[in-house]
Amino acid sequence: MRPVIHTENLTKFYGKQRGVLDLDILVESGEVFGFLGPNGAGKTTTIRVLLDFIRPTRGRAVIFGLDAQEQSTEIRRRIGYLPGELELYEKLSGAELLRYFANLRGGVDWSYVEELAERFDCDLAKHIRSLSRGNKQKIGLIQAFMNKPELLILDEPTSGLDPLMQHEFAHLIGEVKSEGRAVFVSSHIMPEVEHICDHVGIIREGQLVAIEDIETLKGRAIRRLEIHFSSSVPPEPFANLPGVQDVLVADGILRCTVKGSLDAVIKAAAQFEVVNIISQEPSLEEIFLAYYGGGDHAA
Ligand SMILES: Nc1ncnc2c1ncn2[C@@H]1O[C@H](COP(=O)(O)OP(=O)(O)O)[C@@H](O)[C@H]1O
Ligand SMILES: [Mg+2]
Repeated sequence: MRPVIHTENLTKFYGKQRGVLDLDILVESGEVFGFLGPNGAGKTTTIRVLLDFIRPTRGRAVIFGLDAQEQSTEIRRRIGYLPGELELYEKLSGAELLRYFANLRGGVDWSYVEELAERFDCDLAKHIRSLSRGNKQKIGLIQAFMNKPELLILDEPTSGLDPLMQHEFAHLIGEVKSEGRAVFVSSHIMPEVEHICDHVGIIREGQLVAIEDIETLKGRAIRRLEIHFSSSVPPEPFANLPGVQDVLVADGILRCTVKGSLDAVIKAAAQFEVVNIISQEPSLEEIFLAYYGGGDHAA
């Protein structure tokens, strides 16, 4: 594996206003890195520094082994970028705009553009100004993906996409990954991106509070469990089981959260007649909140 993005102590202040603080990020080829945090956390700031739209106050970023400041022209040629606040030339049609971007990049395989438009159910003949926010977002995505770049940097790409399109987007990310290309994707909505990421970095108030690989996180599963009995049951057998919390017994239903193995609670339940068991996988968001604490900064 070769690092595609590497930052060291990357810090940006806007005057006295904190942008981001001492970020150490490593993204390797063939990896999808989710950069997650609430609004104002510093995601867009980080991305703008990576693309050299703004300069860091201290620290540095290296992309493809090149210095993000000194060699930004070369780097940008090899990146597909979707900005967070997308602004498109309203007077052009989708096709015209994409042709314009394609020319800037020295030409792209137009049949791939058409394939992407088809997959995103996007009518390229329409003028940009007549498109809904979601459809503009699709044009932005096609623009980012169309030259099959080595690295995609996507700032909140799923915002405004309906579930079907989010599914198609996830599919596309899978293809990028299988071709050994890398993706850096920001989001403030963890469930929208958790299934596409290999690693996630959580940013809060400008600082990375955790970087974890998805499998480790899922291994820490905290499940919400509901067991329905044929008649009412006493709470005592469920009160002090290992890893079992938030126990509530009422109307013949046990509700609790379980960290790790379900064995103890299942064995305790087995002495009564069980009608149904509902086990809910937690979202990564819940796992993060449980392990890192949330305050009001839910990622
Ligand atoms: N141009 C700017 N001037 C001053 N402060 C800014 C500017 N851009 C962003 N900030 C501040 O930097 C912090 C991070 O913002 P941003 O990177 O846009 O967060 P995110 O993309 O995670 O929502 C916020 O406190 C924001 O107010
Ligand atoms: Mg942003």
